[in-house]
Amino acid sequence: MTAQHFSEEIEQQIDRLLKEMTIQEKLGQMNQLSADNMEVNYNLIRRGMAGSVLSITDPAVANKAQQIAMEESRMGIPIIIGRDVIHGFKTIFPIPLGQAASFDPDIVEEAARAAAVEASEVGIRWTFAPMVDITRDPRWGRVAESPGEDPFLASRMAVAMVKGFQGKDLSNPTSLAASAKHFAGYGAAEGGRDYNSTYIPERQMRNLYLKPFEAAVKEAGLATIMSAFHANDGIPATGDKHLLKSILREEWGFDGFVVSDWASVDEMVVHGYSQNRSQAANQAIEAGIDMEMVSGTFVEHGEKLVRQGSLSMEDLNNAVRNILRVKFRLGLFENPYVEEDRDSKFYHTEHLALAKKAAEESFVLLKNQEETLPLKNIKTLAVFGPLSDAPHEQLGTWVFDGEKDYTITPLDALKTMYGEEVEILHHPVLKFSRDKDTTSFVKMRKLAAAADAIVVFLGEESILSGEAHSLSNLRLQGAQTKMLKELAALNKPLVSVFLAGRPLEIEKEVELSDAVIYAWHPGTMGGPAIADVLFGKSGPSGKLPMTFPKNVGQIPIYYSHENTGRPATDNEMLIDEIPVEASQTSLGNRSFYLDSGHEPLFPFGYGLTYTTFEYGRIELLEDVLQRDGILKVGVTLKNTGKAMATEVVQLYTRDLYASVIRPVKELKDFKRITLGPGEQTVVHFELNIRSLAFWNRDMEEVVEPGEYELWLGGSSDTTEKVSFQVK
Ligand code: NOJ
Repeated sequence: MTAQHFSEEIEQQIDRLLKEMTIQEKLGQMNQLSADNMEVNYNLIRRGMAGSVLSITDPAVANKAQQIAMEESRMGIPIIIGRDVIHGFKTIFPIPLGQAASFDPDIVEEAARAAAVEASEVGIRWTFAPMVDITRDPRWGRVAESPGEDPFLASRMAVAMVKGFQGKDLSNPTSLAASAKHFAGYGAAEGGRDYNSTYIPERQMRNLYLKPFEAAVKEAGLATIMSAFHANDGIPATGDKHLLKSILREEWGFDGFVVSDWASVDEMVVHGYSQNRSQAANQAIEAGIDMEMVSGTFVEHGEKLVRQGSLSMEDLNNAVRNILRVKFRLGLFENPYVEEDRDSKFYHTEHLALAKKAAEESFVLLKNQEETLPLKNIKTLAVFGPLSDAPHEQLGTWVFDGEKDYTITPLDALKTMYGEEVEILHHPVLKFSRDKDTTSFVKMRKLAAAADAIVVFLGEESILSGEAHSLSNLRLQGAQTKMLKELAALNKPLVSVFLAGRPLEIEKEVELSDAVIYAWHPGTMGGPAIADVLFGKSGPSGKLPMTFPKNVGQIPIYYSHENTGRPATDNEMLIDEIPVEASQTSLGNRSFYLDSGHEPLFPFGYGLTYTTFEYGRIELLEDVLQRDGILKVGVTLKNTGKAMATEVVQLYTRDLYASVIRPVKELKDFKRITLGPGEQTVVHFELNIRSLAFWNRDMEEVVEPGEYELWLGGSSDTTEKVSFQVK
C-alpha cells in the first residue's frame, strides 16, 4: 500500500471524540498495557485508562477486552492489540537477516502477509516489525532481526515487510499495522553491546540510518513507528524532538503514531536525562511520543503536567489524534472483534511452502570446492552437529508463538525426503552449540568412517542472538571447531551448514570444509529447504546482507566505507612478513590491520550458486546525464555452468568527489535473474539519477554534478565498471 490517504471524515470523527474526552481519557489512549494481568487490565480499559494492550494471543481474551472498551468504557474507543510478530506468527520464516539475504522483496512481502494472516486470527492487529536498524556490528545480537548493513537493501526490505503486514487495505481484518523500529540509529550501539549509546552525526543519520524508515513512511504508508531505547549523542531517542517531530512529522509528513519502546520513557530517568518519571513523561510527549509502552508515566503524571502548564493540550491532542487515526484506518471502530471460529490458517500448507522457499532463497553458499555440492553418488551420509536436529534453535530469536513441534529439522527432512536413496547416519555429537563435552567424538568417528560424505550443522543456538544477546567473541561456541577439525582429518567430502543469528567468525571452519552454506536461523521449514539444497533439487541464491569479518577485531567492517587518504593497496606486508627492526615507515603507511589486512572474510553481496555466471561488458546508453535523468545500463549475464541457477545482479555506484566524501561503493539496485545452463540474457537497469542524492555540506539532500562510477556484478567486490557524468 502506498501512503495512507488523508480522510476528512476520519479527522472529523476524531475531532468529535477529542471534544468529549477528558484529559485522563486522552492519556489513557496514550497508554499501552502488557497482557500479564488481564483482570487488572480489564478494569483499566473500562476506566478509559488504556488504548492498547500488548501480547494478547487468545481471541476470547481479545474480544473480552475489546467488548469492555467498546461497551463499558465511557468513550467506547476500541483498543489496539499489538505483538512482536517478527518473522512469522505460527509458521516461522527465516530470521529477518536471512530474509534480507534473499535480496527478494517479493518473497519477503509474501512472508509478512502470511504472518499477518496468522496473527490477526487471534485478534492481533499491530506488529512491532519491521525492525529496520542498519547495523555493521555482528557482536550486536539484534543483527538477527535487522536487514543488515546497507541502506538500500534495508529500504527494500522495510517497504516489502510493511506492505506485507499492512496488506492492500489496513481495514481488512487480516491486516496488521506495522511498526518500523527502532527510531533511530539503535543499530550503531557502541561496541555492539545492546542498549549502548551511539554517536551518529546528523549527516550520517540521514544518509544511512534514517533511509529505511523514510522509505517505509513514503513508499509503504507505514502506520506506526517505535522509538529506540538508546541515546544518540546524549539525547535518548524517546525524547528526541528533532527526530520525532522535525524529521518524522514535518519533513516526511508521517501521520501514523509513535510508540515508545518497552519502558523507554521511564528509562530516560535511568539514562540521566529526566529527573523523575514526571519529567520523563513530559519530555517524551513533548518530543513526539504518542503512546507509551508499559511504563505508565503518561497516565500517572500527564494530567498534572497539563494542569500546571508544562505540557500543552496541543501535544496531547496531536498524540491522541495520531493514535485514533490508525485505529480508524484499521477499521477497529466498526469491526473491533475477531471472529473466534475463523478457519485457521496456522501452519497452512501454503504458508509452509512459502516458508520453505523463503529459507531456500536465504541460504548463502560461501564455498563449494570441486563442486562438493550438490551431493551426488552418495550411498551413506553422515549427519552431525548440535543444530542437525534442534527444532527450537533453528526457529531463531523472537519466536513467541511458533511451536517447535511443527519445525522440520534438517535430520527429519533428510530422512523423510532422501532416506530411501541415501542411508543417513546421525549423531548430534554435541548436545547444544555451547557444549564442550567431546565424549561422543568416538561414536562420531565410527559413523563418519562408514559414510561417503559428511554434513555437519554448526552455529549458534537461538538464545545467543536477539535482544540483549550481544557477544564479544564470535568464534563457534563449545567444542564445535574441535569437532570439525576431527571430521576434516578424515578426508571425506565435508559440508558445513551454519545455522546462526549473525555473521560468525568462521575463517578456520571455512578452510576445514569443502563446502559451506550459511543458513541463518531458517525457521519452521529450514530442514526441507536445506535437504533440497544439499541434494540439488533447488540451488542456493542468497547473498550476504552483512560483511563477514575475519575476526572480531576488524569490526566495524562494511563494504560502503570511505576511502581514507591512504587506502590499502592489496599488497601490504602482513605481520609474519615484517622484517625484525623494520623501519617505522617501511610498511607503507596504509589503512589496514597488520594481522588481518583490510579485506573481510566475505564481502557484502557475496554468495555462490551451483553454476558459474559470466558477466559481459557493461553497456551504458548515455554517459552524460542530467540531475533529473534516468541512466540506462545493461550487462549480459551468461550461465556458463551446468545447473539452472539464480544470480542476484547488483548495481553499485560511486560519486568520485563531492562536497562531503562519499563511500567507495553504494548499492543502488539489484535484480534476481534465473538462467538455465548455457542461457544468457541482458539484464537492464534504469537508475534514477535522483537516487544518487546525499546530504551535502549544507545539509541539503542533493545530487552533485561530477564524475561517477558504476559497477554491475554478483558481489560488492565486483571490479567491472564504467564511468558517467552528471551535469
Ligand atoms: C523491546 C524491544 O526492543 C522491541 O523491539 C519490542 O518490540 C518490544 N520490547 C516489545 O516486546
